[in-house]
Amino acid sequence: MNKLTADELRETYLSFFESKGHARIPGASVIPENDPTVLFTTAGMHPLVPYLMGQMPHPAGTRLTDVQKCIRTGDIDAVGDSAHLTFFEMLGNWSLNDYFKPEAIAWSYEFLTTKLGFDPKDLYVTVFAGEDGIPRDDEAIALWKQQGLPDDHIFPLPREDNWWGPAGTTGPCGPDTEMFIDTGKPKCGPDCRPGCHCGKYIEIWNNVFMQYNKNAEGKFEPLGRHNVDTGMGVERTVCMLSGAATVFDTEIFAPIMAKIDELSHLGSDKSVASPNGAEDRGSGTPAASPKDAELTLRARRIVADHMRTATFILCDPKGGVKPGNIGANYVLRRLIRRAVRYSRFLGIAPGFTVKLAEVICEKYKHVYPELGVNLASCKNDLEAEENRFNQTLDKGAAMFAKVAEQLKLHNQTQISGKTAFKLYDTFGYPLEMTLELAKEQGLEVDVAGFEEANKKHQELSRTTSAGSFKAGLQDNSVVVTRMHTATHLLHAALHKVLGPTANQKGSNITPERLRFDFTWPEKMTDEQIKQVEDLVNQWIQQGIAVSKKVTTVEEAKNEGAMALFGSKYGDQVTLYTIGDVSKEICCGPHVENTSELGSFKITKEQSSSAGVRRIKAVIGNMTT
Ligand code: SER
Repeated sequence: MNKLTADELRETYLSFFESKGHARIPGASVIPENDPTVLFTTAGMHPLVPYLMGQMPHPAGTRLTDVQKCIRTGDIDAVGDSAHLTFFEMLGNWSLNDYFKPEAIAWSYEFLTTKLGFDPKDLYVTVFAGEDGIPRDDEAIALWKQQGLPDDHIFPLPREDNWWGPAGTTGPCGPDTEMFIDTGKPKCGPDCRPGCHCGKYIEIWNNVFMQYNKNAEGKFEPLGRHNVDTGMGVERTVCMLSGAATVFDTEIFAPIMAKIDELSHLGSDKSVASPNGAEDRGSGTPAASPKDAELTLRARRIVADHMRTATFILCDPKGGVKPGNIGANYVLRRLIRRAVRYSRFLGIAPGFTVKLAEVICEKYKHVYPELGVNLASCKNDLEAEENRFNQTLDKGAAMFAKVAEQLKLHNQTQISGKTAFKLYDTFGYPLEMTLELAKEQGLEVDVAGFEEANKKHQELSRTTSAGSFKAGLQDNSVVVTRMHTATHLLHAALHKVLGPTANQKGSNITPERLRFDFTWPEKMTDEQIKQVEDLVNQWIQQGIAVSKKVTTVEEAKNEGAMALFGSKYGDQVTLYTIGDVSKEICCGPHVENTSELGSFKITKEQSSSAGVRRIKAVIGNMTT
């Protein structure tokens, strides 16, 4: 393997594809130019959609190569493991109705084995297994074999794994072939294979064969063009080339991690720190247990990742995204505030955000000049946001510590909805932060109770001091309320489309998405997913009133209400009815009319555990 740095990898890649007739083009802004469906650029194909669709010729020709800054915050909770990042760079080579599978696969193999020096025996690929009338990609299989890959290194997998796009609701998409490097770790079980998430096989590159367009009816129609869209993750590839254990152990993160350790006095011994929050700031006492050491490791990575993403957003040449309460601004605020909170966890003193931004800009400004040009304004924004949040945190941390102490004293494990609401309303503590802190302390939070308290508060006082943090949090909880109603509609639609055995097993709502687990033995077909989506959207468009009454469980069940099997209910329950569509026992809160949801879209359908499927969905135009 050639131990390339990120700088060397970018140059090696771009010049390799130049040698294959590609024009080197600049990557686009991380803040989308003309695309209201996404908050940030999530893939290299976003800025190229009109050319992939054939709406206009690209001025640089039909073969392009670039490096694109991407932001994906959908998996923000996974950051801290070995490979998840909210910001990453993606190298790409593009055929705009020019070459197709034979060239793309041959060049991928050539690049991986000769330019990067990966041993072919460590290389595994997956290809599209065929689904819904679209056949298995036998051509890709044959082409990989031609390169010399043995059968047992080629895995045909379903749409869930080997289909990419469209990026929004409609647009170009197609089967893909993904390339993985075997880390040499043992298999996690007999079914372990490329695409398994245990960390044995790391995906570094994806070739998408964009032959299809998903139309407004949800059908895949031939695009009439054969595009190639490939994406190679810079951080992951550098990690695999260097033999580093995680992306955070590569040269890319080295100066950022070193600065974090310097500021937290961790020095070379990364196991020293006490995750005690505010009171312990700056002390750096030895970790009490392996669990603490694990938390410390995670906190270092979260601070590094979030600060890198925030710095790239604040320095972006397009500009316009500032810490705030809605949309992209809120994502940025959340990243900074999460980094601040984890910095305290590491005993880092205030004022660290600007110090990390300096290191990050120094590392990248020769590649992305905007990180040199916009550093000063980025530092101003970071400093202001960090100060604001520190004031909030100081008050909230003291209150949270008291709450936790009282609960433990009384052998209780649940923070009441009222207390969570007080933390939020009086101390500005977002619910997600209370949830995180509670989890660390082995406590739970009565989320439904929080929502109820919040709803009551809103009914009492509809004043929103525009622009204030508090108002933003209320916006946020309005989103959660809408998601809550969308969840009931989704449950009802699943019953209609799949039948009464598709029962709720779990539900989780964040301001970004809803997640719904339900009993169902197999993958839903595209047709079923579309029917469910259409039904929910139909109910939204019908503007059905949502009514609420307090009754007994027996009475509610007699009326045909859905209730969670195995749940314990008190004497009195709240029954929410949405016209003749849905009746569920639930704590609420809910919107008053389904029209408040705007629209509904399923973004993912996947397995959750044996016999249980998981759907993720968004409402309005909330795609991140
Ligand atoms: N669009 C594909 C991806 O994001 C390949 O670039 O993975």
